Amino acid sequence: MSDPSSDCKDSKNGLAGVTAGHTSICSLDKTLRYRGYAITDLLECSFEEVAHLLLWGDLPTENQLREFATRLHTHAQSLPETVLWCFSRLAKTSPQCSIMDVLRTGVSILGQIECDNGPEEMPHHRDLSQERFKAEQLLGHVPALLAAWIDCISGRQPTPWPKKPLATALLEKLCHTQISDNAANVFTKTLILYAEHEFNASTFAARTVTSTGSDMHSAIATAIGTLKGPLHGGANERVLQQLMDIGTLENVGPWVARQLENKDVIMGFGHRIYKSGDVRARLLHEAGHQLDDKSASFEPHRKLEKLANKVEAVMFEKKRLKPNLDWPTARIYHALGLPINLFTPLFVVARMTGWTAHIIEQMSDNRLIRPVAEYRGPSPRQFIAIEDR
Ligand code: ACO
Repeated sequence: MSDPSSDCKDSKNGLAGVTAGHTSICSLDKTLRYRGYAITDLLECSFEEVAHLLLWGDLPTENQLREFATRLHTHAQSLPETVLWCFSRLAKTSPQCSIMDVLRTGVSILGQIECDNGPEEMPHHRDLSQERFKAEQLLGHVPALLAAWIDCISGRQPTPWPKKPLATALLEKLCHTQISDNAANVFTKTLILYAEHEFNASTFAARTVTSTGSDMHSAIATAIGTLKGPLHGGANERVLQQLMDIGTLENVGPWVARQLENKDVIMGFGHRIYKSGDVRARLLHEAGHQLDDKSASFEPHRKLEKLANKVEAVMFEKKRLKPNLDWPTARIYHALGLPINLFTPLFVVARMTGWTAHIIEQMSDNRLIRPVAEYRGPSPRQFIAIEDR
């Protein structure tokens, strides 16, 4: 019998290079663009401006931005009591669980409360303005879910959602301190770079769920579960763990050699699409320098940067592989004082924009996503009744 794992590198494995549909949300040709705008221009925007662009198709006017930000703030302020009650119970029974599971559960509860997608609702009957309302609600609710869970497990009383740009408000909520403009600025850039990336695994999973006629909350819960995987969003948490494990400059060479010898992937390197470097990683690496305030307290982060630079050099020398976005993001989140288990959940907060935009795009021109597989199992064989086997 042929072994299906014996030919993993055929061109279609993992759908590599396969065009699986069309989109007008994001393009990766030459540079990354959201709805036609170059990412370098969008990095000067607020996160809300980019979220509006992705969800509504255009950059907002000042009035539209004010109204959009107010709506998101209202949603962030108004998490249903049922969710908070469930979280307070779960915080007692499973305080150590993955925060990705918390967000997935939170979105599922929200979907149930909303009665998203009654059974009679067919994809072509959907009211897309209603779906955009749900999307905005989720864009406000999800960061609030994250902050609510952190309050629950730390035994803190919830406080009102700050009336500030979403990125600043969230960072303040998570760090429990006033945030400098510099920190807010760099954090915003991480969210903008994480916001959208075409048919990546989690977005494609969300579109597949949507294509069956299922509801937005089910698609988002699926996307969160997909992003959790270490080959996708989960990589950013492992990047920092790796650097901690390596520890010293002298250990970089032997550590990388050991990983490669064991055929273990090095997190934060390589990308399915970017074979000569992830443009986002370069842009964020540059932005990250803004955090260095030249103070003595920043010295541990400077050391981590040196370590990271050496890993990059060795990886390029040994494998010709360059870093992806998770590589600089992990160090930036660490320098901002965020704990490692928040890194991938923050990716969720950002990617909610891209996911919801894709879900709505799929709904607006839907066809069931159902590819075919090349069969590699046994040839036809004679059935033998159980008593004769
Ligand atoms: N470390 C070591 N070797 C690697 C790495 C890595 N990070 N990435 C790719 N390679 C090697 C492969 O082992 C393979 O080598 P071989 O030809 O000698 O067998 C070669 O490079 C080609 O790699 P593929 O597996 O074909 O690349 P693929 O497109 O399937 O995988 C992926 C892309 C999953 C991102 C991979 O590079 C990886 O596992 N990276 C680490 C996880 C990671 O950082 N994920 C974050 C992705 S970006 C994001 O989600 C924002």
